[in-house]
Amino acid sequence: MFNPFTPTLGATPPVLTGREEILEDFRRGLLNGPGSPERVTLYSGQRGMGKTVLLGEVAEIAEAEGWITITETGYPGFTERLTTNLLPTVLNGLEPGTASHLTGVSVGPVAANWSAGRARYPVTETLRSQLQRATELLAGHESGVLITLDEVHHSQIGELRELGAVIQHAITEGRDIAFAGAGLPVALDIVTSDAVSTFLRKAERQEVGLLGSVDTARAYSATIENSGRKIGRLALAAAVDAAGGYPFMIQQIGYRAWLTSPDTVEISLSDVENGISLARRRLDQQIIGPLVSDASPTAQRFLAAMSVDEGPSHMSDIMSRLGCNANYASQYRLHLISAGYIAPVARGQVDFVLPYMREHLRGLVAAQSWDNAEAPTVTDAPVQSELQVTHTPLTSRRSRRPRL
Ligand SMILES: Nc1ncnc2c1ncn2[C@@H]1O[C@H](COP(=O)(O)OP(=O)(O)OP(=O)(O)O)[C@@H](O)[C@H]1O
Ligand SMILES: [Mg+2]
Repeated sequence: MFNPFTPTLGATPPVLTGREEILEDFRRGLLNGPGSPERVTLYSGQRGMGKTVLLGEVAEIAEAEGWITITETGYPGFTERLTTNLLPTVLNGLEPGTASHLTGVSVGPVAANWSAGRARYPVTETLRSQLQRATELLAGHESGVLITLDEVHHSQIGELRELGAVIQHAITEGRDIAFAGAGLPVALDIVTSDAVSTFLRKAERQEVGLLGSVDTARAYSATIENSGRKIGRLALAAAVDAAGGYPFMIQQIGYRAWLTSPDTVEISLSDVENGISLARRRLDQQIIGPLVSDASPTAQRFLAAMSVDEGPSHMSDIMSRLGCNANYASQYRLHLISAGYIAPVARGQVDFVLPYMREHLRGLVAAQSWDNAEAPTVTDAPVQSELQVTHTPLTSRRSRRPRL
């Protein structure tokens, strides 16, 4: 039988659970008209949380409402790609006299003459002029333009400002335009604190986080049952528990459990257990390992100090394990929260965001015989550069994305 799980990053799962509210907010923004805050939203989440999938869903909602969508990734040159390729493609499909094949929107004649023959002062099309034109052509059809930008990162702040300024103008002019960006929490923190771009600072922020256990169970059971197999109560409970609400793990476990005995109707507890152990290996290789190696040495020690605990860690314990003062520890705490590694869970306590990061760190500590002798004994606050998440050789694996 066909394996319905989608263990590949960016692949839309057959059953998308737990994102109803976020998607409804976006739909409301589209329907409410220009100026509604949800029309400019940034989706923030740790790796593997489902940001790319969410952007795809947002684009589908917009298309279902008759909007044109342009999807881009925030790698260098995206403003140029928009100007020289994506927007011209959209306009070619919209200009009167051309068959509109983009969303089936039929666009009538418009007053302004766009390609005005041989002009004395030739006009070069810009991002702004093309977006203006596209929104003009769509006006009156209850349609607009949505731009989605995945992997928003502060290393491209110049282009983000440029795109932001153009979208800001369009919004001020009352045009039907929407923007949905996605990125890692720390990258979005930096981007949204940019003093120059009001657009980015004012964007709505939606957290794409872990799913609850009910949504996780539904993701498994509906996916399995829709594809003609079954899963028992105990096996389902084990799969839900092991995924910890983490979308990446839900798909990994489901995919590998399904493959374990593909010819039986029911996925058994031992199929799930096998799936969990294979999925954990993938998680370590693809997500946890690169994340830990991207952290600075001191941030790694902070995380290693947390891994001693079975559950949430008290800041007082972390401080005594690291031999550092409260100011120092609290700066790393804030930094690791903003980078999406840890989250505050109660007063004075933090915990890991991703399942199995604790176990991964324990393995590293054991393998490298770390002990408190290696912990920083500094009592001053760390300098800013120490707080950066940088690539360090804790593992030799390289991250596949720009470093934070
Ligand atoms: N709501 C969901 N329910 C179940 N599975 C999901 C959900 N959202 C995403 N997934 C699955 O989780 C995995 C990660 O999704 P996605 O690639 O969108 O994450 P991401 O946040 O963009 O990760 P990255 O930061 O690495 O780009 C994929 O396998 C996807 O199929
Ligand atoms: Mg992604």
